[in-house]
Order: sequence, then structure tokens, then C-alpha cells
Amino acid sequence: MSYKLDIGNSLKEIINDVKRLQNQGDLEAILVFLQNAIKQPENIINALPEFDCEEVLLYVDQGLTVYYIATPPGILYPPHEHGMVAISALYKGTETHVFYDRDGEDIIERTRVTVRSPAIVDMEIDAIHAICTHDDVPNQGIHFYLGDLESKSRYLWDITGDNPRQYIHSDYLKAARPL
Ligand SMILES: [Fe+2]
Repeated sequence: MSYKLDIGNSLKEIINDVKRLQNQGDLEAILVFLQNAIKQPENIINALPEFDCEEVLLYVDQGLTVYYIATPPGILYPPHEHGMVAISALYKGTETHVFYDRDGEDIIERTRVTVRSPAIVDMEIDAIHAICTHDDVPNQGIHFYLGDLESKSRYLWDITGDNPRQYIHSDYLKAARPL
């Protein structure tokens, strides 16, 4: 167990249950579990301190990384890959995912999907996406990555889908653009 900050037991239980299902190799069960878990968002909201930043690492081990993510309005973050299964569990607001296909080194936009909370968006290992919200205030979700995202070598692109390069978080923020 490797929590990066002190969070309440109700969210620790959710993370523990995800780990347990992951150890059973049951991705479908994780998705069903999270879909139910975010229907009681108070179990997440009450377990978190007030954050004044948009992305907070909550938990990481070799097999699982968990972030709190509140996407602010009016900004499209750049496309990136995770190199592992990723699940967005949105419990407040809406979230738009732009999905891309590979085109050699570059990528091309394929589709845009907007979900409204409570909603789960699951992405396969090779998925490439960018996120934004069309809400007036930041949305809120917990993002689960089924691996150690912090030490994973992976790629980031410009909003245009070109200029592939190693994912570095400061570059990710710099490459964000107004919606
Ligand atoms: Fe992502």
C-alpha cells in the first residue's frame, strides 16, 4: 500500500476493492464496481481534503495508480497514451474524451465522446485520448490506471496530433490549449 496523502477510509475501501478485483484479473468486475461506487459520490467527496489543484496523486504501487482529477473549463489538454488500462470514474459534471488513431508517428482524431456523471470511461492499453469539459466549473473524477503510471515511459502529442515525444507532466500542461 502506498498512499500519497491521507484520505478517508471510504475511498481507501474503493481502492482496495479495485485492487482485489484486479488481482482476480476481472476488469469487467472493476468497471461494474466503479459504476456503482460513483453513484454514492459522498463516499469519495467526504474522503478527500479540499484541493486547490487539478490533479492529485492519491495512490501508487506497481500495479495501480490512482489520481483525483478535476478538469477545469475552457481548456483542451493534449493527447497522450497511458500504456496501460485506464478508467475514468466521473462523479461530478461532464467530461469529454477526444480519441485518436495512430497515423505513423502522428495521430488523427477519431471521435469525441461526452459523458455525464456518474459515468465510467474505460480505455484499453493502446488508447490515445485528450480530455476537456464543457461545464462552467471543474468536473471531478477519480482516474484509475492499472499499472505504475509514474514510472511508465509513454507518449504525448500536440493538440494537432503531431510532435510525439516522451510524456513529461510539465510538457502536458504547457501543451494545453483554449477550447
Ligand atoms: Fe489520460
